[in-house]
Amino acid sequence: MRTSANAAPESVLIVDDEPSLRTILSFIVQRVGAVPVVAPDAATARQLAAKHTFACALIDKNLPGENGLDFLKWLRSVQPGCNALIVTAYGNVDSAIEALRLGAFDYLLKPFEVDALEHRLKLALQQYRMRQEHERMQAMLVQADRLASLGLLAAGVVHEVNTPLAYILSNLDWIDEELPSLRKALEGQKHAGKELASLAERMAGLESTMRDIREGAERVRHIARDVKAFARDPGDASQLVDLREVLDAALKMALVHIRYRARVVRDYQDVPLVLANEARLAQVFLNLVVNAAQAIPEDGGDHEIRVRLWTGPNGEACAEVGDTGMGIPAENMAHLFEPFFTTKPSGEGTGLGLFICKSIVESFEGTITVDSRPGVGTTFRLSLPPHVRSSRATRPAEPVVSAAVS
Ligand SMILES: Nc1ncnc2c1ncn2[C@@H]1O[C@H](COP(=O)(O)OP(=O)(O)OP(=O)(O)O)[C@@H](O)[C@H]1O
Ligand SMILES: [Mg+2]
Repeated sequence: MRTSANAAPESVLIVDDEPSLRTILSFIVQRVGAVPVVAPDAATARQLAAKHTFACALIDKNLPGENGLDFLKWLRSVQPGCNALIVTAYGNVDSAIEALRLGAFDYLLKPFEVDALEHRLKLALQQYRMRQEHERMQAMLVQADRLASLGLLAAGVVHEVNTPLAYILSNLDWIDEELPSLRKALEGQKHAGKELASLAERMAGLESTMRDIREGAERVRHIARDVKAFARDPGDASQLVDLREVLDAALKMALVHIRYRARVVRDYQDVPLVLANEARLAQVFLNLVVNAAQAIPEDGGDHEIRVRLWTGPNGEACAEVGDTGMGIPAENMAHLFEPFFTTKPSGEGTGLGLFICKSIVESFEGTITVDSRPGVGTTFRLSLPPHVRSSRATRPAEPVVSAAVS
């Protein structure tokens, strides 16, 4: 039995002032394959829980000093994932309800049967493991979606990079031909006024070509930088995020999907900063913007993707991505946020985009909703808690701006 230090994730905290019960409970914990960590009172238990993560806790309701239910309340606030079972000799329905209301996993009366307690502890541990596994899978899905988006981007990047590269190369070819003949002309000529003027003209042509090459190379550099920023593992750190910048970055990255289908109309009003992970939010907006573009036929029609930012009535940051695409049939609306729901041909859509968007937005305590009318268009709306509860903009408010992405 251990009394302190280095509790592994699968440790069970036992808080009981009776030494004999601590021994029995430790024995049961070991029988279910976990490690018991014991404390005779709530103060010791608090010290242990401040340092270690517990899968479950067995808490005596009547402890010396701090009451078991008060300790439970504190434990739930610092380790919400820990499944706590309250064990007491003084149980009644009211205190059982109170314990469950405070978030206890279960409630047991003393004297208890070892088998019954073992069974309930097993359930508590199982539920803990399943939740851990769920969180792990969720993190893997977010990563998988990032990689899928990266694949999508890669196709766009190839397209984007090819155009400037083509003119960099053709201009280089031209310089290759021009320079030797220019040198020859300079060496062989007697530099009469007329000839000098023609040489100067050719030099000017060379300089302007060099500028074009530089511009093309700069474009390639920018594209590479944008993709690198997206590909970087964002980690989980949160920072203050300006939604305007995130939305602009997502639009820029999705440009190749939007360009021949729709105009982008921006309506950025005052919006508070939010505490979130910038790369994750970029992933959300990129998914929404690419979905919007994919819902619009490439028929040269007059289509729009509208992006809006504003402050909600309770000071929240609101964002909208709307399109004039094909809309969503009523029977699909309930399934949009389910994993692997897609109407796209295999190879084009995995059906993870919106599922991931929802889990990212919810991880920042936000919400995402959708409105759609078949044949008219679709609008996804996000709401995120503001970092500062005020409607002050991070930049001066601009009038409604309507512009095509370039
Ligand atoms: N703006 C939109 N307009 C019309 N339908 C949409 C729109 N956004 C999503 N959908 C519908 O919701 C489905 C699920 O979208 P989701 O982004 O989750 O997956 P996907 O786009 O099919 O695949 P991917 O995993 O590559 O994003 C889409 O297949 C499409 O039918
Ligand atoms: Mg999608």
